[in-house]
Amino acid sequence: MDLSKHAVTPIYTGLKNYTQAKIVHFDVPGHKKNPDSPLAEAFSEQIVLYDANSTKDLDVLSNPTGIIKEAEALMADAYGADQAFLLVNGSTFGVITMIMSACGPKDKIIMPRNVHKSAINGVILSGALPVFIDPEIDPEYGITNGVTYTAVKEAIKANPGVKGIFLNNPTYFGTVSDLKAIVRLAHRHGIPVLVDEAHGSHFPFHPDLPDAAMQVGADMSTVSLHKTGGSLTQTSAILLNEGLISKEKVRTIINLMQTTSASYLLLASLDLARKHLVFNGREIWSNLLALSAMAKAEINKIPGLRVITRDDYVNGKEIYDYDETKLVVKVNELGLTGFEVYDLFKEKYNIQLELAETYVVLAVTGPGDTAENLTQLVNAFRKLSQEYYGQKPPFHLPPMSGFFTRPQTVVAPRDAFYSVKKQVPVAEACGEISGESIMIYPPGIPLVIPGERITAEIIDHYNFYRKQNCIIMNDHGNTDFIKVLGE
Ligand SMILES: Cc1ncc(COP(=O)(O)O)c(C=O)c1O
Repeated sequence: MDLSKHAVTPIYTGLKNYTQAKIVHFDVPGHKKNPDSPLAEAFSEQIVLYDANSTKDLDVLSNPTGIIKEAEALMADAYGADQAFLLVNGSTFGVITMIMSACGPKDKIIMPRNVHKSAINGVILSGALPVFIDPEIDPEYGITNGVTYTAVKEAIKANPGVKGIFLNNPTYFGTVSDLKAIVRLAHRHGIPVLVDEAHGSHFPFHPDLPDAAMQVGADMSTVSLHKTGGSLTQTSAILLNEGLISKEKVRTIINLMQTTSASYLLLASLDLARKHLVFNGREIWSNLLALSAMAKAEINKIPGLRVITRDDYVNGKEIYDYDETKLVVKVNELGLTGFEVYDLFKEKYNIQLELAETYVVLAVTGPGDTAENLTQLVNAFRKLSQEYYGQKPPFHLPPMSGFFTRPQTVVAPRDAFYSVKKQVPVAEACGEISGESIMIYPPGIPLVIPGERITAEIIDHYNFYRKQNCIIMNDHGNTDFIKVLGE
């Protein structure tokens, strides 16, 4: 990377110059930068001043030739990619675009079952047929992790002509598969590797973080800079190493779906984040990794708690690497579920955790974190343990044989999506074929997707989530019913 060229911020600087020119606006947006507008009153005048739509000066996201093109070239350079595409509709959109770039109707794509909902949406929209492989499971922490090289190899062997391999780097909980080896294997078969790096946008900026997709030669990646890179919410980027997939194809797919009125506040934030990552990333993650290590050491001393570290995973298990910036804390020994601890953290300590699962909570760190934040987090865990440890027996789910069993696909997701459907009460859904994806958010990994058989275990699992007062996502908002195929 040529550091000298990264000092500029073409979109932010272009927007600033445009804003300072005090243009009289007879174009949209309709607030016309009026300082008396309700928006300016609520969020400060800067927000409306910097809110703009595409013009010749500001370039156009769908066919960039000016400042956006320059910013995309810098983003690509920062990540070691041939091409970058800035996105204002999150990694959801990036993941869908990657799948649609590699696959058309009836093309097979290998993916772990613990993908985010966006990958299922990508399969439905493209008409591709997912070949699901099982992720590694950590029964102690009750979480699913990455996939093994062997699982991918077997899936390639069993599915000649497969058109893509889709992987998470890392999973929500921070585990990383042997991406380098999988990319080499896939390329020997001429198969592109698409990587969901929604939680890995920081990887290239410190040598002690796991390998980033572009560094190991993957074909496409989607990075949520808004999650770990410091840009505004909704901003992401698609990265491309050309060869098996062309940039024209990717641009065409993007332009099928992305807004023609991209927010320049969002775009400029990507530009500013890229510059910050390039110049300060190494120092930021040196500090964060040290703070995270200290926090983990402290948490592991607290009665009733345990936190995942790289050593737990990389030694002896088939996980290749671990992102130490994630704090996955096992809390069930306190007699509480992860969901209860998630709520208690907010109510008692004013701390918003990233997510909960049955036995764990996840705290994520980012470039804006400070030593004080981490100390507050550790102190809250300490107080929680003082209050709850030893009061109740550890929480364990009643044994559910199929807790982590992959559901059986009966109908292809797209066919199921377009089939006639009815709503049935949850208790009556056992044995039916699902017509929708249902999941808790976060993490947004579906319990069941369109076309899969609903089992008693899935219903038990769903009822457990409902009782735990999780945020449930489905197609209709009524969690007492499930959409299934049939008249
Ligand atoms: C693994 C994974 N991929 C993709 C996404 C979608 O990202 P976004 O929220 O930026 O649309 C998420 C969101 O949580 C995610 O966890």
